[in-house]
Amino acid sequence: MVKAAEGRVFLSDHPVVKDKLAKLRSIDNGARDFRELVRELSILLAYEVTDDLQTDKVTVETPVGQAPGERLRGAVGLVPILRAGLGMVEGFWEMMPDAVVWHIGLKRDERTLQPMQYYANKPLEPDVQTCVILDPMLATGGSASAACDLLKSWGVRQIRYVGLIAAPEGIERLHGDHPEVPIYLAGLDAHLNEVGFIVPGLGDAGDRQFGTA
Ligand code: PRP
Repeated sequence: MVKAAEGRVFLSDHPVVKDKLAKLRSIDNGARDFRELVRELSILLAYEVTDDLQTDKVTVETPVGQAPGERLRGAVGLVPILRAGLGMVEGFWEMMPDAVVWHIGLKRDERTLQPMQYYANKPLEPDVQTCVILDPMLATGGSASAACDLLKSWGVRQIRYVGLIAAPEGIERLHGDHPEVPIYLAGLDAHLNEVGFIVPGLGDAGDRQFGTA
């Protein structure tokens, strides 16, 4: 279950999420274990963030008759922020194999901490009921806010954000810039340090997944 922590922030209190998050943070993980934990946590958060998607009533022909049912109304767009968000896509696909994926490349300048966009890939005519931004880390919130700006400029009306760990500073920034975007998290940490890393956090989620630390 996910509980509202403040405003539209949903922080998981599921014991399995807590267990996996504690493992994920550990300095002892290699890239393989780290990627697997990111995938598993993403499956659990995918369940939570989709619990109010819209559906249409349908009738299904079974081998013995007709059953009433519901199908998701329209596609869901997954929007991983490169690089680190990529590792969350597989977990979401386990839940929603038909979800489409749009990529946004953002790299935080190490000195200014401002996000710089280097890539964007979406369909010519975006047509989804909702977009889910995926990024393990919500630090200053600059990348998440820039991703929301871009999606809105593409005409996306419903946006949700899913992260693994956030700093209060990032939540405040994303809330301030895009108050209607709900934020789903596995963990909420204490603060940012002087170089913009979440404390205690887990280090650099991109480097740890891709073995580039
Ligand atoms: C990290 C992280 C987020 C961003 C968060 O990515 O994965 O995308 O920083 O920081 P912010 O909230 O202050 O914007 P980074 O820029 O290091 O790129 P990477 O994923 O390629 O490692």
